[in-house]
Amino acid sequence: MQESIPMSAKDNSPKFSIKTGAPENLKSDCIVAGVFEESRLSATARALDKASKGRIAAALKSGDMTGRAGSTLLLRELPGIAAARVLLVGLGKQDEFAEKAYRDAVAGAIKAVGNTAARDALIALTEVKVGKRSADWNIAQAAIVAGDALYRFDRMKSRADNPPKLGGIGFLADSAAAAKGLKQGNAIARGMALARDLGNTPSNVCTPAYLASQARQLARSYGFKCKVMDKAACEKLGMGSFLSVAKGSDKPPVFIELRHDGGRKGEAPIVLVGKAITFDAGGISLKPPADMDEMNYDMSGGGAVIGAFRALGELGLKLNVVGLVPACENLPDAHANKPGDIVTSMSGQTIEILNTDAEGRLILCDALTYAERFKPAAVVDLATLTGACVIALGHHPSALYANDDKLAQALEQAADHAWDRVWRMPLWDEYQEQLKSGLADMANIGGRAGGSITAACFLARFAKRYPWAHLDIAGTAYRSGRESKGSTGRPVPLLVQYLIEREGQR
Ligand code: BES
Ligand code: MN
Ligand code: ZN
Repeated sequence: MQESIPMSAKDNSPKFSIKTGAPENLKSDCIVAGVFEESRLSATARALDKASKGRIAAALKSGDMTGRAGSTLLLRELPGIAAARVLLVGLGKQDEFAEKAYRDAVAGAIKAVGNTAARDALIALTEVKVGKRSADWNIAQAAIVAGDALYRFDRMKSRADNPPKLGGIGFLADSAAAAKGLKQGNAIARGMALARDLGNTPSNVCTPAYLASQARQLARSYGFKCKVMDKAACEKLGMGSFLSVAKGSDKPPVFIELRHDGGRKGEAPIVLVGKAITFDAGGISLKPPADMDEMNYDMSGGGAVIGAFRALGELGLKLNVVGLVPACENLPDAHANKPGDIVTSMSGQTIEILNTDAEGRLILCDALTYAERFKPAAVVDLATLTGACVIALGHHPSALYANDDKLAQALEQAADHAWDRVWRMPLWDEYQEQLKSGLADMANIGGRAGGSITAACFLARFAKRYPWAHLDIAGTAYRSGRESKGSTGRPVPLLVQYLIEREGQR
């Protein structure tokens, strides 16, 4: 059947820029300045107050704005100020002002400006010092948060209900220091938007073939190499575990390989591997109906790899990077895997499939074996792998597992910098016992206890030949809820930051 849905969402991403100068003289539809609790003015608020002969202070004195975090006040046509509107944004207590408060303030500002008719805005919140963070961090985060707040996914609606009017956003900063931050933040925002588009596209449109066409299109735009292996090619490679999951669907599986050769020839690449189950019904071990509609997000790992490549292309990093995305559906069908089936992975290790819903590890294990051929400097896989991860950590950090402490620390540092955080989990041998099988080399599930950990332990058996890390992003890649469900674009920020830092170390 032909789908009458456009192949790709149109790019209405906001245009960011750096603005310098005296705030009162800068023309815009809306200038946004911060105010701390107890009516302490930020530098820009102070400048605007002075230029308008005390109008900001008067507004505060009236009690209309307290500086409480989350509060905003819109003032119009103030004398002596070039901007048509002044939006004051409460920053909370000055001594408690940290990363979360900063991000919330920027997001709140975008939302409040979005409720006006302003078509562009000048955000001066970027001038406020955030703990030990540098000026370019402020700018990068502002671009990421603004990109996030302005993101819409409305290509599946017959009419967009709330298209953003805000097209251009300027950030007030000292231009030299800020340019690098803007470039990185912009690239990350664009990568996230692509990952979100792919995640939000429903599974009747976002099929394995669709992901392959999106990867090819991206490769054409940025000059990446792209190879798409079909079922026959995967059979030749012996990917018996991956293909066993794909058997239950009539949509053919694909194995996508993207390459960015930005580094020296022969330099060991970083390999990113992303789980892309375009729909996970559980297979014969069928999932219960509640929330099954969210299982189109089970390709978020693969979406994040493709999104990270977009950012990589935008930044043109001097680094060799390989992206591997095994993609298929997990459905119940006459051909599907059945509980008790035993398959042979590309590594030669055999797997007893005790639960067909533990399919992510079955497709990733063959991708991890395939990754060996690149003699990688490091392999990082990303997967919405387990519901148990959400129980353990909730929705704030992704779970980080690694067989190499240096790699784990590099990822932790990048995650902290990008504010796309992770929490390290154990990969102890003790847990490996839960994967024992009487009939095969291993079982594909380890029981209820420590479900995210035993899933990672399963993957570790296929990642012994290189430094490897695994991110369980089941709690972070998307949000649930009838009206609020949607992809977050995580962990694109962390991946891109990690690659940026790797480039800096060469
Ligand atoms: N895609 C799911 C994991 C998942 C569940 C992600 C909920 C996001 C939200 C995965 O394929 C899965 O079904 N895992 C099973 C493993 C179990 C059978 C050992 C799970 O977590 O229940
Ligand atoms: Mn599953
Ligand atoms: Zn799954």
